[in-house]
Amino acid sequence: MHTNFATKACAIAALLPTAAIAQSVFAHVIVGNTASYTIEQWTSEIELAQSYGIDAFVLNIGTPFEGNTATQASYAFQACNALSSGFKMFFSFDYNGGTDGPWSQSDIITILQAYAPNGCHFQYDGKALVSTFEGTSTDEINAWPSIRAAVNHGLYFVPDWTLLGPHGFDTSLVDGAFSWDMWPAGAHDVSTTSDVAWDEDFLTPAGKTYMMGVSPWFYTDLPYKAWVWRGDSAWSLRWNQTLQIVPEFVEIATWNDYGESHYIGPIVSAGIPSGAERYVENYPHTGWLETLPYQIAAYKHAYSAANPTPSVAAGEEKIVYWYRTSPASAGSTNATGNYCPSPYNAGAYQSCVPITDILEDEVFAIVLASQAGTASITIGGSTSTFSVSSGNNFVRKAFQGNTGVVSVGMGSVSGSGVEITAAPASGIANYNAWVGCAGSCRSI
Ligand SMILES: *[C@@H]1O[C@H](CO)[C@@H](O)[C@H](O)[C@H]1NC(C)=O
Ligand SMILES: *[C@@H]1O[C@H](CO)[C@@H](O)[C@H](O)[C@H]1NC(C)=O
Repeated sequence: MHTNFATKACAIAALLPTAAIAQSVFAHVIVGNTASYTIEQWTSEIELAQSYGIDAFVLNIGTPFEGNTATQASYAFQACNALSSGFKMFFSFDYNGGTDGPWSQSDIITILQAYAPNGCHFQYDGKALVSTFEGTSTDEINAWPSIRAAVNHGLYFVPDWTLLGPHGFDTSLVDGAFSWDMWPAGAHDVSTTSDVAWDEDFLTPAGKTYMMGVSPWFYTDLPYKAWVWRGDSAWSLRWNQTLQIVPEFVEIATWNDYGESHYIGPIVSAGIPSGAERYVENYPHTGWLETLPYQIAAYKHAYSAANPTPSVAAGEEKIVYWYRTSPASAGSTNATGNYCPSPYNAGAYQSCVPITDILEDEVFAIVLASQAGTASITIGGSTSTFSVSSGNNFVRKAFQGNTGVVSVGMGSVSGSGVEITAAPASGIANYNAWVGCAGSCRSI
């Protein structure tokens, strides 16, 4: 049995009769990729994210808290404060990503003293939400009671301590947990097995909340990390899984992590890590934003039979479609499959899964339809048609050796995207996705 939000909500409501407990959706922002930002750039990205239904940015920061990191955190809050639009921010303290080692207790206290009371800081149950990326040494996890005691504002602490696993730490240290385990470790689709272990088996019995990760893709091909996990259907499948798990929070990974190809925000060239330009430039992902209002509405209403899956209004039909631009077997690469040991995949610890098994050579599409009908996907001269129902549909068409421009259609909706070629022109593989949107879309 999956978690029943109604039961949880009742249990919480019994404790807090007047508090409205709402679910929230966040997007993970790599502040390290925002060094070029002005306050105006933050303003525009906050407006963009909020317009698609995202409630807050999770500011991922590594040590030290000075220079660009401190400046950009300040700019982000300044932009948010000036807008005063209900959008919020909170921090994810990244213990692995900094140039000055893991976070110290005193720096975290200083930052939270300054920002936790800010009008733009996300609060849950009247407390400032705080997260981490790892920070799982015994000293690091045991520092949190002292951090709470030292900050003059309540903290609602939801770390990502995925490395420790469910049951790997004392739940009295936390208010909830975030799991970074949102990509499948093999040649199969992402499942809810790990979410169930975190949420139902570990956190719920302790009365703690779960933050579930949703991500569309994962491909990194840098000199120090180069591997691939299956994305493929994930932008449809993983949101569907939020309807089964019904977590209190969803964190999208990510808004702007270009190096790992799971950005859903706009590409800001200055933020692309050196070496990733090759696979990021000209591979827009903002089409994925176009399904978010529907997916978020479905997730936020999933607890109630009286609020069924949202409908799609006439005139708002769209097809969001994505694909790699060559078959997985074409082109050279230093990337490896899941956990496959190599000089570029140092953390590998399990057996190799070939990339050609992990990645499916297909065009994937979410079709949001206002009524039942027929949708089509064409690759070059090859067209496949699909019966779709009103609402949310997912369809896919295998390359099967076809090359050429990809186009999609349904009634008056039509659009086309870049060509699929038999091999990458450069000779080097690119496993990133090109994402398009046809119909009622604001982006490409
Ligand atoms: C693999 O890595 C080497 C060394 O960094 C680099 O010279 C080469 O271009 C890379 N090859 C591909 C296909 O990415
Ligand atoms: C997600 O849910 C919709 C609506 O039930 C369904 O049509 C679609 O096939 C699902 N997506 C995947 C990838 O299973």
